[in-house]
Amino acid sequence: MIAKLALVTGASSGIGEATARRYGASGARVLLLARDAERLDGVADAIRKDGGTASAYPVDLANAGAIAEVAARISREVGTPDILINNAGAGRWLPLIDTTAEEALAMIEVPYLAAFNLTRAFLPEMLARRSGAIACITSPASYVAWPNATAYTAARAALRGFTEALRADVRGSGITVTLVVLGTVESPYWEHNPGSREHLPVVNPTLAPILSTEEAAETIFAGIARRKQTVVKPGILRALFLLNAVAPRLVASQLRRAAKQRG
Ligand SMILES: NC(=O)c1ccc[n+]([C@@H]2O[C@H](COP(=O)([O-])OP(=O)(O)OC[C@H]3O[C@@H](n4cnc5c(N)ncnc54)[C@H](OP(=O)(O)O)[C@@H]3O)[C@@H](O)[C@H]2O)c1
Repeated sequence: MIAKLALVTGASSGIGEATARRYGASGARVLLLARDAERLDGVADAIRKDGGTASAYPVDLANAGAIAEVAARISREVGTPDILINNAGAGRWLPLIDTTAEEALAMIEVPYLAAFNLTRAFLPEMLARRSGAIACITSPASYVAWPNATAYTAARAALRGFTEALRADVRGSGITVTLVVLGTVESPYWEHNPGSREHLPVVNPTLAPILSTEEAAETIFAGIARRKQTVVKPGILRALFLLNAVAPRLVASQLRRAAKQRG
């Protein structure tokens, strides 16, 4: 589908910033959401410099009330997005005993509840006009239990469950729901979430190359344009998910071994 109005959450950094720029370059009007107003303005300026159209809407997506307000403002000012990309997310990869209750709750608030609340705000109008695309960006932890990332894995499983249940809800309504599963992306995520990189399982880079934020953005853009249900990049991860479904103990032991190699 050709985008007219594309909303990207987490557009102040990393994958979201690159995705917003990709949509800007495609001619879409891009709505940028995240907390850091200054960085959002910088991304909006960069999109405009490249000939695109962008507006920044600073918001804390952990706050359901703030989401309702910003969604109402967007609807009033520019209308309902044609494409809604739930990308904002954070969360440190830590074992359970090193994760506080506050951090575990924050990982559920964003990305899962943020995606739930923002989608809920725009869905009625998308249903009424019988069109729209909704995408959620997640990690392989939505499918396999990553060792030493307990709260992160649970939160990403929630996001996958939400995305798949939403797809079932809107079936036949003209709305596409895409789950984008990305392997490791070299983004500021690793600085923003200290301690996480140390818990990344060691993976052969030839089998599963690390993605740039631009590659991640292109994957998201192409997946939504092709109305895919699920996009997995790098594709080898599909084999891991399949193996996990039929031989979960084998995958768990391999992942534990990969995690130990790092430690
Ligand atoms: N990097 C990877 O290897 C990788 C792989 C697969 C999936 N992912 C997922 O992709 C998403 C984006 O990751 P990234 O690598 O681009 O990380 P990043 O560079 O740290 O960007 C995270 C974005 O989320 C926003 N955000 C976080 N909490 C927010 C909140 N409460 N309200 C509003 N915005 C919030 C941040 O903006 P503000 O701080 O300005 O609010 C920022 O724009 C995450 O959900 C991540 O789990 C990442």
